[in-house]
Amino acid sequence: MSTTTEGLEDVVAANSRICDIDGKLGKLTYFGVDVHDLAKYSSFEETAYLLWHGQLPTQGQLEELKAQLNASRSLPKRFIDLLWLLPPKSSPMEVLRTSISALAAFDAESSGDAESNLGRAIRLTAAMPTIVASWENIRNGREPLAPLADKSHATNFLYMLTGKMPDDYTAHVLDVALILHADHELNASTFAARVAAGTLANMYAAVTAAISALSGPLHGGANEQVMRMLLRIGDVGGAEAYIQDALARKERIMGFGHRVYRTEDPRATHLRAMSKELGERAGDTRWYEMSRIIEEYIKQHKGLNANVDFYSASVYYTMGMPVDLDTPIFACSRISGWTAHVLEQYANNRLIRPRAEYVGPKVTPYVPIEQRG
Ligand code: SDX
Repeated sequence: MSTTTEGLEDVVAANSRICDIDGKLGKLTYFGVDVHDLAKYSSFEETAYLLWHGQLPTQGQLEELKAQLNASRSLPKRFIDLLWLLPPKSSPMEVLRTSISALAAFDAESSGDAESNLGRAIRLTAAMPTIVASWENIRNGREPLAPLADKSHATNFLYMLTGKMPDDYTAHVLDVALILHADHELNASTFAARVAAGTLANMYAAVTAAISALSGPLHGGANEQVMRMLLRIGDVGGAEAYIQDALARKERIMGFGHRVYRTEDPRATHLRAMSKELGERAGDTRWYEMSRIIEEYIKQHKGLNANVDFYSASVYYTMGMPVDLDTPIFACSRISGWTAHVLEQYANNRLIRPRAEYVGPKVTPYVPIEQRG
């Protein structure tokens, strides 16, 4: 058997039309459309359409998708009753994972054909922000807010979380963040979804697997850890000393490094700029300034670049998000990519089942228990 590739580093595990990453040049495209153009000109709804259909929508197709999303934002009352039963201290990522599992029981559609699964992708994408926002209200003892019929995905998310209409710039920043996080080839959570879909498990099962993988601090869970680090540091003056000490203790600095990018993560470019702008508008740029000090220090002393999670932390915090919602927000975007990959896996399926290089004991005789030392 061939030698083991720990962590499947650089192992090509599938052919896919959805996303291309050039780790050397720092390029990211969805079906060939550059993420820089999507961040500048598109919307999360338009990007989700691209991921599901392989082309940007016409105006009519976009309006139809928006109507489908709007029609699926509300959750069944029995489902909300379920959330009220959970302990208020439950982690939002665990509530989200539990919720997607539970939603399977509310799915009246029995067919597993491509059209039905596209419908599930749309319904899950619509429901995720409602689940996260409902949990934020329920854990604080408040009734969840109903979604607004005629507002965008990002605006609805912010409204359902806070009960207030966001200003245009904040809604725009969240929309761009959702675009930037939408897909990323065979990252750990997407691969987990494809492994589950590869057994022909249903879409809820595949997304539950993905949410589980995303929650880890080496993957989507990093953004929350970045913000907790910034809060521990507290102010700009403490940033360099903190990071010097952390590196001296050989600590892994959340938000830095990447399995594929060997240069700037193109998504960090936009998130850095938005963190600065949001801070200036809020009259408090300390989280951005601390991030810049840390970024420069790590670049010089470790040769590592910031990844998508580094600046998303200060973006979400500056827009008022509770820190433990950072990874759920990541999931509310990546659900579009996960479901696109699940649809692709179903369409040209082959069970995903790698091998392991056996490095255990040689053949050993069975010793009856009375003869064991
Ligand atoms: C995401 O895959 C994707 O596309 C993921 C993602 C997506 O959109 O889906 O981009 C989202 O998950 C981004 C990554 C978020 N995770 C973090 O920020 C956690 C911190 N980062 C690291 O744990 C690490 O960089 C990984 C997990 C992201 C990548 O790890 P690898 O490829 O397995 O690299 P490695 O751990 O083997 O590190 C190689 C070297 C090591 O040094 P040596 O032991 O060889 O001397 O680089 C060092 C590491 O110690 N290193 C770090 C570091 N990341 C790598 N040292 C300090 N801090 C870090 N963050």
